[in-house]
Amino acid sequence: MPAEKIKFYNLSIPERLDWLAEKAGLDAADLDALRGGLTADQADHMIENAVGVFGLPLGVAQNFVVNGREVLVPMAIEEPSVVAGASFMARLARAGGGFSASASAPEMIGQMQILDLDDPHAARLKLLEQRERLLAEAGEIDPVLKRLGGGPRDIEVRVIEDSPIGSFLVLHLIYDVRDAMGANAVNTAMERLTPSVEHITGGRAHLRILSNLADRRTARARCTIPLPELAFGDFPAGQVRDGVIAAWAFAAADPYRAATHNKGIMNGVDAVVIATGNDWRAIEAGAHAYAAREGRYTSLSTWGMDRDGNLTGSLEMPMAVGTVGGATRVHPAARAALKLMGIQSAGQLAEIIVSVGLAQNLAALRALATEGIQRGHMGLHARQVAIAAGAEGEEINRLADQLVAEKAVRVDRAEEILREWHS
Ligand code: MEV
Repeated sequence: MPAEKIKFYNLSIPERLDWLAEKAGLDAADLDALRGGLTADQADHMIENAVGVFGLPLGVAQNFVVNGREVLVPMAIEEPSVVAGASFMARLARAGGGFSASASAPEMIGQMQILDLDDPHAARLKLLEQRERLLAEAGEIDPVLKRLGGGPRDIEVRVIEDSPIGSFLVLHLIYDVRDAMGANAVNTAMERLTPSVEHITGGRAHLRILSNLADRRTARARCTIPLPELAFGDFPAGQVRDGVIAAWAFAAADPYRAATHNKGIMNGVDAVVIATGNDWRAIEAGAHAYAAREGRYTSLSTWGMDRDGNLTGSLEMPMAVGTVGGATRVHPAARAALKLMGIQSAGQLAEIIVSVGLAQNLAALRALATEGIQRGHMGLHARQVAIAAGAEGEEINRLADQLVAEKAVRVDRAEEILREWHS
């Protein structure tokens, strides 16, 4: 059954889970994991001083077609309208063939800072002369990665001049981490290379750590929204398209707007990153550093128009996510989330994530360029306000509807109405 026909949002939670089980071949344990997430005992093995778990809503975005494949996308997020926005924009994109996405090789960068050098320029050349030896040594560090076809790919060395502590060297090890996020593999490699690097340079290795500016491990998505799909309410399609493009131009030109524009992209990106147990701080750090890579912070996405007047969008950003190791394997809901998407590799996951980021960006720009963001937000926000004011059961929707109708979505007013109802 095509995703649009079932009105997933109208089902109860048990019905939604049953539907997912049938559609994606999930078993009872997967459904339990999606419903319940992590136990406190499991959490105790993940971090120190664990006292419990902190829940986030987990939704499933509909209508996504990525590289011709239908995919149900798990999203862990507390913000209303995000899952609905992504699903709706995925439907518009679907009419234009869905998202075309690709991912680069999973190459991470490990950094080593080398201090106390008499001649940093000569030390740089000595390291480059020993490139093959260093790569061979790094290649022996992780036999599992080696067997899977990963491992070191290249070495780069830069001299940093005139820093507050004088000159020093920075060595980059480019390391293919296959389906891992890669932090452990890279950090281990950097520490293990220390004696050789110190021997070659005569200097002292200081910091040894991966870089979150994973600009050699990017994912890209693009989509075309057929012009007629853009019309809604009183807004003609051409006006919506031009409005989205003008909104993007604002973000492209102005860092204050770009930060908010990119935050909208990250609403979609982070929700999938979190649902799959990946490190969203790493993804955030990489995204914003990448957005500023040319010296001025700008939009991660671009929007334009093709020859037929259709709206076209694209997004490219670092995407250091893994499908093996870390929380992706330990967290039962993360495992079920990967299964739900039918993911075979980290690259495939990265492709889905950037597609969701692009859809989310369009949802925000389309709303901002037309009726404004508050209208869509208010319905669900009103429900949160109603719950915060103490509403329970069916009171929640009734109170939320009244708050929206009164255009007074505030806790004080919600409490007042509840007092009236209960008196
Ligand atoms: C809110 O979470 C995200 C937006 O601010 C994004 C944007 O302004 O593009 C709506």
